[in-house]
Amino acid sequence: MLVKTIRPELFHLKTRVSINVKKILTLINDIIEKSSPDNFPVILFSSESNYKDIVNRIYNYSPKDENDLYEWLRKISTSEQVGMQIAQIQKWNEELHEEISLLTDKIKKKVSLDDCYLSSSIIAGNYGYTPYGVHKDNDEFVAAIHYNLGPGEKHMALWKPDLFYQLTGSWKPYDRPIDIIDHADIYTYKQDEGFILPYDDYHIGFADEFSISIVSIVYEKKTTQTNSR
Ligand SMILES: [Fe+2]
Repeated sequence: MLVKTIRPELFHLKTRVSINVKKILTLINDIIEKSSPDNFPVILFSSESNYKDIVNRIYNYSPKDENDLYEWLRKISTSEQVGMQIAQIQKWNEELHEEISLLTDKIKKKVSLDDCYLSSSIIAGNYGYTPYGVHKDNDEFVAAIHYNLGPGEKHMALWKPDLFYQLTGSWKPYDRPIDIIDHADIYTYKQDEGFILPYDDYHIGFADEFSISIVSIVYEKKTTQTNSR
């Protein structure tokens, strides 16, 4: 079983891989053109109290003519910390999806997961803790692979399930990571570094510096689920 062989692990690829930021801005523009504020299909990480306000600003400040993703994110956010997660890239922009697939093919080879199916999303920002709380991924995942394209560094905090239960008294997601962070194993992955996260560890990602990363949920080939977080 693949699940039993996967441990938390940092890795490097032999050759540097970059994704053109302009293509990510074009992707966001494509999504804006094909959707509406009522069903904006991108998860935003923001401390703003009114989520709708930030979504409306996205539709008012399309990134069509922008060249810098971080500058654009700062335009649409009133808070210092901001981020977004874009899933199902193939649905919106085939060209970028192909480019990301080239990267994930290299990752699969590197971490010996050739028999798996990867569902990838983009996470970008300097968002602090992700808004999902400390959680455990779906049992159908084999693992999640995070690959940091930079420029800033990112971190993943991990708790073994028994320790998490001992600390929080529950198996449910926990939304005050700061209370239990001192008990976590923390992995830092810098630009051009990847991290393999086993499905059964409780975890939360955090990033104080701006970075763009590709997050690939790993399924055994027979499954086709595309949800991720
Ligand atoms: Fe997760």
